[in-house]
Amino acid sequence: MFDDTLKNFKDLTPRDFRILTGIEIEMKNYEWVPVLELKKYAGLSAEKLSYHLERLRRKKMVVGTLDPYDGYKIYFEAYDALALHTYVQRKTIAAVGSEIGVGKESVVVEVLKEPEIEIADPEVLILKLHREGRTSFKQVKRTREHLVGKEHFSWIYAARLAAKREFTIMKHLYPDISIPKPIDQNRHTILMEVARGSELSKTKVLDPDWYLDEILSQIRLVYSKGIIHNDLSEYNIFVSDEGVQLIDWPQYITKDHPHAEELLRRDIENVVNHFSKKYMISRDTNEILKDLLENTTFESDITGEPGIENPAAIEEPEEADAADVFEEGDEEFAERF
Ligand SMILES: Nc1ncnc2c1ncn2[C@@H]1O[C@H](COP(=O)(O)OP(=O)(O)OP(=O)(O)O)[C@@H](O)[C@H]1O
Ligand SMILES: [Mg+2]
Repeated sequence: MFDDTLKNFKDLTPRDFRILTGIEIEMKNYEWVPVLELKKYAGLSAEKLSYHLERLRRKKMVVGTLDPYDGYKIYFEAYDALALHTYVQRKTIAAVGSEIGVGKESVVVEVLKEPEIEIADPEVLILKLHREGRTSFKQVKRTREHLVGKEHFSWIYAARLAAKREFTIMKHLYPDISIPKPIDQNRHTILMEVARGSELSKTKVLDPDWYLDEILSQIRLVYSKGIIHNDLSEYNIFVSDEGVQLIDWPQYITKDHPHAEELLRRDIENVVNHFSKKYMISRDTNEILKDLLENTTFESDITGEPGIENPAAIEEPEEADAADVFEEGDEEFAERF
């Protein structure tokens, strides 16, 4: 699936990106963006625009309708292409490698970073493309507390909000907490370093007690910052000789969440159960939880800090992304943003 995006990405011209960005922006206002609206983004006559739109449709970058009027929308393929284009423009990404994971709500691919010095080997980074809005909105709403009250937003908004939320919390936690270094963010995607080692679920560790303690001490550290991961399990923990790293943060909650205690317990329980099943290690979840609740000194009260309690508050206008596309040459268009 992602391969198709890549195949098509290489053939897309600056004009294609303008048209796609026009659809992206206008999708805030329309379910199907009228071709007439797109004329101002493309700077083309109606016939030429139709020709380009038809080309994009054949590449599966846009979907069109004739009823009730001539209009277009985009899906994740085009949104992926727009984000990739932005990273290439910013020179954060030099090339895209293979898909390494498809999660419930994301596609994860390896990418190459432009080396700082020409002779150096390019560094491998991880690009996580969020897919939150792909499932039915009700399902998204149930599982993602940050979407409550935002039912009217489209999948674009759901996915970009999740990416922003994940990136913001990773920036907040890094480097105190052991997580992959967050590098960059755009639209529904985040760029980060590769996690060290392999997933706990796929690994047989030689010293399970030590790893369990490492994980519990990370949970404690995160909690002392007022944060709970809220989806912790052997699938979201990487282990290596150096220790552990926790990934997959968009659903985190703060200690003031009404179900904080219950959700913290579930995180601990998932980890404790894994070690009990796979390594016959027995630990008491209740005791660990009690200790955490009673003996944690919170580092600072983060309540009210923008971007943590209320990530929507830091939501930048979507036009900011469009600047990457319109900067490219045509000043008339650049001025619009
Ligand atoms: N920084 C990273 N380094 C290496 N592999 C990664 C990294 N981030 C994600 N992955 C891989 O991609 C998979 C999916 O990533 P992640 O867990 O963040 O997404 P998800 O879609 O939320 O997953 P889930 O199915 O748990 O909801 C991970 O299980 C892991 O194998
Ligand atoms: Mg995961």
